[in-house]
Amino acid sequence: MPGVLDEKEMEMAERGALVTGASSGIGLAIARTLGEEGYALTVSARRPEKLEQAAAGLREEGFEVEAVPANMAEEDHVVAIFAAHRERYGRLDVLVNNAGVGIGAPMEEIQTKHLDMQLAVNLRALILGTREGLPMLREAGAEHGKALIVNTASIAGKGGQAWLSIYAATKAAVINFTQSTHREAGNAGIQCTALAPGFVETPMTEFVQGQIPPEEMIRPGDLGEAVRFLLRTSRNCHVPEIVFTRPGEGLDTP
Ligand SMILES: NC(=O)c1ccc[n+]([C@@H]2O[C@H](COP(=O)([O-])OP(=O)(O)OC[C@H]3O[C@@H](n4cnc5c(N)ncnc54)[C@H](OP(=O)(O)O)[C@@H]3O)[C@@H](O)[C@H]2O)c1
Repeated sequence: MPGVLDEKEMEMAERGALVTGASSGIGLAIARTLGEEGYALTVSARRPEKLEQAAAGLREEGFEVEAVPANMAEEDHVVAIFAAHRERYGRLDVLVNNAGVGIGAPMEEIQTKHLDMQLAVNLRALILGTREGLPMLREAGAEHGKALIVNTASIAGKGGQAWLSIYAATKAAVINFTQSTHREAGNAGIQCTALAPGFVETPMTEFVQGQIPPEEMIRPGDLGEAVRFLLRTSRNCHVPEIVFTRPGEGLDTP
């Protein structure tokens, strides 16, 4: 009947976004921006309690939030986040592949389990998430020409790094994979951007906060603002990457 919505249409959000690694730091800040911009959110992270706390905070701010705990190192967990998102909202307009982990070590002391974990979470999961998200993103791209994939890389991905060699290699691969995604999906109304920040004040940089005062670090909200900018540019304007540095810092090193 015209004017009457069936059950599926009633459940369908106007715009949907999925953010991994959204229980703290950069992912949480980007989720907040997307909530402010009217997106129904799926947020994911590894530890359920911390994730639920973050999700509760976002709901208090008035946003619609589905929280899906997942270990990004497990393929079936990654697949499940996307299935839960589709089930709840039926559409995906913005995918933020943000979960990441950095474990420093001199090369001679690299532990295989730390190598595997960084490859799995920083790179493999981002590739799997892109695969899982693309069908819904293609639908959104066909509808309005401005779906987004935002991948959190790092300034460490812009140049090799002593001690953080694996982390830097995964982040360089993230930048490259983002470019490939753009080549494959750009003409389908999906824009792909890699974010490459230097030190941001989050739990991840606690190890260095003795040397660099936390208040002098990039703010997590700065990355949220960058995503807001990406939402507002025209469908004709592709931004392949955004590098964030602190004042006076080089372009390829944290
Ligand atoms: N902070 C910086 O200076 C900086 C600079 C450049 C790039 N980055 C990148 O920014 C992204 C976010 O980091 P952040 O600085 O915001 O750090 P953070 O506050 O520690 O956030 C990391 C997020 O990723 C999640 N995560 C980690 N391992 C996971 C796993 N195996 N499965 C599922 N979720 C997992 C964490 O959840 P749990 O806590 O539950 O594990 C958390 O939600 C990462 O990709 C990082 O490499 C950070």
